Amino acid sequence: MSSLTVTALTKGFGATPVLRGVDLHVPAGTLTALLGPSGCGKTTLLRLVAGFDDPDSGTVAVGDRVVAGGPGRGVPARRRGIGFVPQEGGLFPHLTVAGNIGFGLPRQQRRDGGRIRALLELVGLDEALATRSPHQLSGGQQQRVALARALAPAPSLVLLDEPFSSLDAALREETRAAVAAALDAAGATAVLVTHDQAEALSMADQVAVLRDGRLVQLTDPQTLYRTPQDLDVATFVGEAVVLDADLHAGAARCALGTVPVDGPRGDGPARVLLRPEQLRLSAPAAASGEVLARVGGVDFFGHDARIRLTLADGTAVTARLDGAELPAAGASVAVTVRGSALAFPASAGTAALSA
Ligand SMILES: Nc1ncnc2c1ncn2[C@@H]1O[C@H](COP(=O)(O)OP(=O)(O)OP(=O)(O)O)[C@@H](O)[C@H]1O
Ligand SMILES: [Mg+2]
Repeated sequence: MSSLTVTALTKGFGATPVLRGVDLHVPAGTLTALLGPSGCGKTTLLRLVAGFDDPDSGTVAVGDRVVAGGPGRGVPARRRGIGFVPQEGGLFPHLTVAGNIGFGLPRQQRRDGGRIRALLELVGLDEALATRSPHQLSGGQQQRVALARALAPAPSLVLLDEPFSSLDAALREETRAAVAAALDAAGATAVLVTHDQAEALSMADQVAVLRDGRLVQLTDPQTLYRTPQDLDVATFVGEAVVLDADLHAGAARCALGTVPVDGPRGDGPARVLLRPEQLRLSAPAAASGEVLARVGGVDFFGHDARIRLTLADGTAVTARLDGAELPAAGASVAVTVRGSALAFPASAGTAALSA
């Protein structure tokens, strides 16, 4: 296994810049999720790392070895020691499962079924599937075979481009867990592209957020969710309640009352971020200073629910409740805030004030 280091990588197609100076370090044996909206350059970045395309400038190193952008020509894709799992699995339809997995192996290992069996076990598939054709497998099974094929030559780095996007919710969860376990067992260094924030937060050691060809934040999942770099990142990695506020003495006065704010900052106008799970609802007690809201609707998800609220001043906010006792649409409720808010500049600035 090796680390991956991308330095000042740029790439454009024609006159359109796609990557604008990306720096990314993935420590050996860890998984980094690459998260970003459609068209921001995620696949382009993976293709440059894999060697399917050349950067305009900047370098890619696997371990200490510069494979792209160094002196001379880049190392060809097949000699980079990188496994690639494309979005649709990309299995060879005319080969069996065993044929697909063994494709990149030396003939000796391909003949000896032991390595194929070990790889099937690694990705949690029954060895009876070895003789099947790809079209006889479910989508999740195909994804796992594609992963086994990528892991077969023991690559130092595995790149996965939205490997779960074609799966339904239940299969996605199960395949995600199996793939994470297989990568872990193989001790692989991995980069997983996704635009699913829950997938990124739950699977990765670190999350890289790419926007307009730039890396805007690189940190562990909890830090990303709790202290996003800016409000765009905040809303991209989860549901957000964003309110205009006036900061004074470590607290924010906003439509939800006076809420403590984390860390040092100046007084004055700001915007504050809360997460919907920080909002608590109760029956109105007719107390002074109580923040009242009307329930506009309830989206029930089973394990929890999203409550759409309109505050007395007309502000729309969202609460997340795990409770079995959900308010009815049209009900009047009192809203309190748990924990503290994160403050950002009042204008459309980029840095968190509390950073
Ligand atoms: N070969 C190409 N020629 C011209 N433009 C390209 C080429 N490949 C990608 N692009 C453009 O580069 C931009 C980034 O594409 P890329 O495939 O990296 O996005 P992405 O982040 O993977 O998006 P998605 O989430 O939709 O897969 C897009 O605007 C795309 O149209
Ligand atoms: Mg893509």
